[in-house]
Amino acid sequence: MKVLIIGSGGREHALAWKCAQDNIVSHVFVSPGNAGTHLEEKVSNVEIDINNFNAIEDFCINESIKLVIIGPEQPLVEGLTNYLHSKNINTFGPSKEAAQLEGSKTFSKDFFVKYNIPTAEYESFDDFDSALKYLDQINYPTVIKADGLAAGKGVIICSNIKEAEEALVNIFKDNAFGAAGNRVVIEEFLEGEEASFIAVVSKDKIIPLATSQDHKAIGDGDVGLNTGGMGAYSPAPIVTNELHKKILDQVMYPTMEGLIKEGSPYLGFLYAGLMIKDNKIKVLEFNCRFGDPETQPILLRLQSSLVELCNAAINDELDSYSIEWTDKHSCGVVIASQGYPENYESNKEVNIKDHDDKGNKLFHAGTKYEDNKILTSGGRVFCATALGNDLKEAQQNAYNLVEKVEFDGSYFRKDIGFKGIK
Ligand code: AMP
Ligand code: GLY
Repeated sequence: MKVLIIGSGGREHALAWKCAQDNIVSHVFVSPGNAGTHLEEKVSNVEIDINNFNAIEDFCINESIKLVIIGPEQPLVEGLTNYLHSKNINTFGPSKEAAQLEGSKTFSKDFFVKYNIPTAEYESFDDFDSALKYLDQINYPTVIKADGLAAGKGVIICSNIKEAEEALVNIFKDNAFGAAGNRVVIEEFLEGEEASFIAVVSKDKIIPLATSQDHKAIGDGDVGLNTGGMGAYSPAPIVTNELHKKILDQVMYPTMEGLIKEGSPYLGFLYAGLMIKDNKIKVLEFNCRFGDPETQPILLRLQSSLVELCNAAINDELDSYSIEWTDKHSCGVVIASQGYPENYESNKEVNIKDHDDKGNKLFHAGTKYEDNKILTSGGRVFCATALGNDLKEAQQNAYNLVEKVEFDGSYFRKDIGFKGIK
């Protein structure tokens, strides 16, 4: 069978690489893909305009695609799954209604309250004046969030009222996030440690994936600007068995049941971003997709077939599915372009030194292939991912792989995994 993956990041390289290992898969297409997916065996890139649902449908029919996996949030929120399902094309991903969990912070916060899912206190506003007035009534720090999709940049932590006023001016007056900022959520600042909980969900059935933790900040020690994620590891010791059960009972099942009641049952990867303190959980956000970079270390540990897992979810057969992981730990270190998450340069030629690729994998993200060369084309360029008998060994192996990659202005954190090792 043939598979189509939509997207171009490290997550999509990992999804394509994993699908291609499956004996039942003859070929994997990635649209638009990156240099890594271009160079991968049994995988090729295709240029389809992902805003043109009709063109995606035509491609699936012409190539007899038997499974579509949609990586990023944008096409999910825009309804690509709804469209492909209406054309009877086997697709793994939530409907646009269910994807509102990520697509609108107001939707998700109201949903949490309605279904008793623990989250930070909040108010939402669709005009500058009432939001500004509210700033007098709250404690600091506070968190201001653009309602819509903002490529991971729409959350501003404000230490005092002055910063909060500036954030509101930025969002409402200067249109920093475009239409995504037509509304804001202002919420209580939560302290604690963050963890990601990612599962495959189909209606009322769930298969939790191996636990993981991401390092969001740009600098060592978790300081500096927030990014899409500078590295991740799996498993995450913070998610103890007791906490795992609590997350299922207090967050995942109520969410799945709530969506069924709303008439939008979930299908796809469902990602809860959590804050944990004193063994208590609060939901920071939901993502309607697999995490990036969490996908890379998680899939390196997955022993089962990803294609069978997605098909079991689509066919409502998760009940009889059992998923297998290696006991090994994994760690993925993102190599970024200097300047990311702000301005950075692209089109730097990449040199990858020969290396033994047993137990590790260099996933590409912002790369392209031109004239037989690999060039940088994004902020996060690679995720060097490796296994080890424990997290420390996985970390060492991942950093050994990082050493094999050279390009002008490369930047990576030196401490990915420290939270799990400590
Ligand atoms: P979100 O996109 O909502 O997950 O927010 C991005 C990041 O902002 C999170 O991973 C946290 O690091 C931080 N954040 C979001 N909401 C809060 C909050 N209520 N309290 C503290 N930090 C937060
Ligand atoms: N790594 C965080 C995310 O995928 O949103």
